[in-house]
Amino acid sequence: MPTVGVIGLGYVGLPLAVAFAQEGCDVIAVDVDVRKVEAIEAGLSYVEDVSGEQLAAVAGRIGATTRYARLAKADAVLVCVPTPLTSNREPDLGPLIDATRALAEVLQAGQLVVLESTTYPGTTRERVAPLLEESGLAAGRDFHLAFSPERVDPGRTDFTLRNTPKVLGGLTEACARRAEELYGVVCERVVRVSSPEAAELTKLLENIFRSVNIALVNELAMLTDRMDIDIWEVVDAAASKPYGFMRFEPGPGMGGHCLPVDPFYLSWRAREFDMATEFIELAGKVNQQMPYHCVAKAQRALNDRGMSVKGARVAVIGVSYKPGTSDVRESPALKIIALLRELGAEVLYHDPHVPALTELALESVSLERAAAQADLAIIVTAHPGVDHRLLATRARLLLDLRGVTREASSANVVRL
Ligand SMILES: NC(=O)c1ccc[n+]([C@@H]2O[C@H](COP(=O)([O-])OP(=O)(O)OC[C@H]3O[C@@H](n4cnc5c(N)ncnc54)[C@H](O)[C@@H]3O)[C@@H](O)[C@H]2O)c1
Repeated sequence: MPTVGVIGLGYVGLPLAVAFAQEGCDVIAVDVDVRKVEAIEAGLSYVEDVSGEQLAAVAGRIGATTRYARLAKADAVLVCVPTPLTSNREPDLGPLIDATRALAEVLQAGQLVVLESTTYPGTTRERVAPLLEESGLAAGRDFHLAFSPERVDPGRTDFTLRNTPKVLGGLTEACARRAEELYGVVCERVVRVSSPEAAELTKLLENIFRSVNIALVNELAMLTDRMDIDIWEVVDAAASKPYGFMRFEPGPGMGGHCLPVDPFYLSWRAREFDMATEFIELAGKVNQQMPYHCVAKAQRALNDRGMSVKGARVAVIGVSYKPGTSDVRESPALKIIALLRELGAEVLYHDPHVPALTELALESVSLERAAAQADLAIIVTAHPGVDHRLLATRARLLLDLRGVTREASSANVVRL
């Protein structure tokens, strides 16, 4: 079994490290965050997709460290560092460049390096390869290089790393063959494309596809609000068509990394080719409007009961960006809380996955307390296991942004 190095032990890197260790590989797991390294060493998982028991079961095979030098012993190194945007919404390759430079210092002839972080077409060949070659080794000749996007959907149990086909593109045919062999250890099916660029764009197409379709249904939700048509009823009915329609849910906007951030890597790159990627920009614009639309809806719901947002107590139910996870990155709930506070509301929240929002000086309260104390409760993210029916019966006023209380058609429930 190969010895596998993983750089960046977040939502992507940690499950990957565990998957290889479960197959019997020794894993060298590197992160700059000492807390993560210590947590792994102590057998404590901080990612929902990896349970404490799973981590403990492979503890002997995963060596977590902040030191890149240990990677010299790996047969393959998988790079899973963040690829965020700068404040000007341009690609911030800082973490990737830092990781690549540090890896170059310990790179060995014969190693395979695979970039998994989502990025624009050209990154592997134009940015990663030259930095790694500062080692004196040539990409494609002395070491192998490929791009293979991570497709993990955190919190999902039906499709995992194992049964989700893994797309990959190598710098050379030999690079691709080598990477295919490696991923064969943990994935049932590998889909090879002809180049790293094709693999990089494949991941972006997947993310943009979702972003555009969510924006479409969100725009319709804003329209149906004015037309007094139930958007959920329309989506349900359209989804009865057995072909030519794919269901997407309206909601309070996009969160996480994949949808609000990644498509803009392509818009930025496209500008170099004199192209404006209008679908991406438009989808971003529509989805960014959603928290404002939802707060306006909350404002109207209170107004209809003779109340204003100012001075009202509002409970936000679910603050992470997706059900079943604790990830609050770019979560629309944060925007909704900020907008409500600007209007003078007193905000509390309930989220079984997020005990505290330290930056907002908030701690999660029980669902019962949220229902009892709030003038208005808003379901922003519908976590499994949260009793939304109870909420619908107990809350004085409930705004459901996820369509999970459709059976409870009582007068106190308002929906997106
Ligand atoms: N989270 C997802 O659902 C998901 C899905 C598919 C793809 N991706 C992509 O995968 C990449 C990683 O995403 P994530 O969600 O795992 O991010 P994350 O922030 O959870 O984890 C990244 C880790 O990299 C570490 N890191 C940063 N700079 C480093 C460096 N120089 N050396 C070593 N470690 C470093 C950070 O400390 C962090 O632990 C991104 O490009 C993202 O777009 C994420």
